[in-house]
Amino acid sequence: NGPRVVVVGSFNVDHVWQCDALPRPGETRIGQYRTGPGGKGFNQATACARSGAATVFVCALGEDEGANLARSLAAADGIDLRTEPSEEPTGTAGIYVDREGRNSIVIGAGANGALTPDFVARQGEAIVGSRIVLAQLESPVDSVLEAMRLARSAGVRTVLNPAPANAESSRELLAVADILTPNESEFAALLARHSGERIDAAEVAAADEARLHRLCRVLLPRGTVVITLGAAGAFVSHREDKCRGDELPYYRVPAYEVAVVDTTGAGDAFNGALATSLALGGERVFADHVRFASHYAALSTEHEGAAEAMPRLPSSRPA
Ligand code: RIB
Ligand code: NA
Repeated sequence: NGPRVVVVGSFNVDHVWQCDALPRPGETRIGQYRTGPGGKGFNQATACARSGAATVFVCALGEDEGANLARSLAAADGIDLRTEPSEEPTGTAGIYVDREGRNSIVIGAGANGALTPDFVARQGEAIVGSRIVLAQLESPVDSVLEAMRLARSAGVRTVLNPAPANAESSRELLAVADILTPNESEFAALLARHSGERIDAAEVAAADEARLHRLCRVLLPRGTVVITLGAAGAFVSHREDKCRGDELPYYRVPAYEVAVVDTTGAGDAFNGALATSLALGGERVFADHVRFASHYAALSTEHEGAAEAMPRLPSSRPA
């Protein structure tokens, strides 16, 4: 049944208000409301499935309408859902989206915060039988660590999307990531927390490439770092002795120009598509996988919503 990706992460019911501008402290704005599926984990799992990978999604859900939504959507996309039941409510997110498609998000972890390492360990067979394990930081660090450790022990490649920026993380966790995919603020936050180096989030996109590469090597000496930079594309930094053929140790990949409607979940689209492309493998060089992911992410911003905005590629399973 094809190359498999295991995603470990969150499911949220997204409550979205579309407004002209993001509200400032003390300000009340009038906007339009909609709700839909989200959560970085579920968005990434949906992107994996819709971009063509057989996908397993490991998460924790409450006993409510949100959980039913997760189950029916996963079934529609052919996602093999492994859920740990929780007494907490299913995760939620409050999202404001402005006229330019930018957003501000607050998460209520709920059940996501109750995903246990023990439940993850019980998915060991799926994890060791997969090609790629992909995780984010909306779930407890120990549970994510368990998944990545199991993967590594079986030679399965691990991708860690260290989002959101203010989430808990550890050096231990970074050490089991083969590929780390922060955006500029997550990169700045991780660097400040786990090394003696600093860079301002606002500086990252325009920073000198040799300097960025050096900082990436400090953050993840043994792995590959892909910094996603929104409209500025992505920056890739490899461990120098791991470059194949004429592969460069560091380079930029430009973004695709699209008519942006909603950037919510664009990072998730990138991570899901990157995981699919890596799992499908082939003879492609790493830069090709990043280009594929970046194109897929751009297309996701042309649609409203998070999980719902993930494009269905011809090779993905029918809904
Ligand atoms: O990355 C976007 C996601 O962040 C949203 O779907 C929301 O649920 C939060 O997890
Ligand atoms: Na979107």
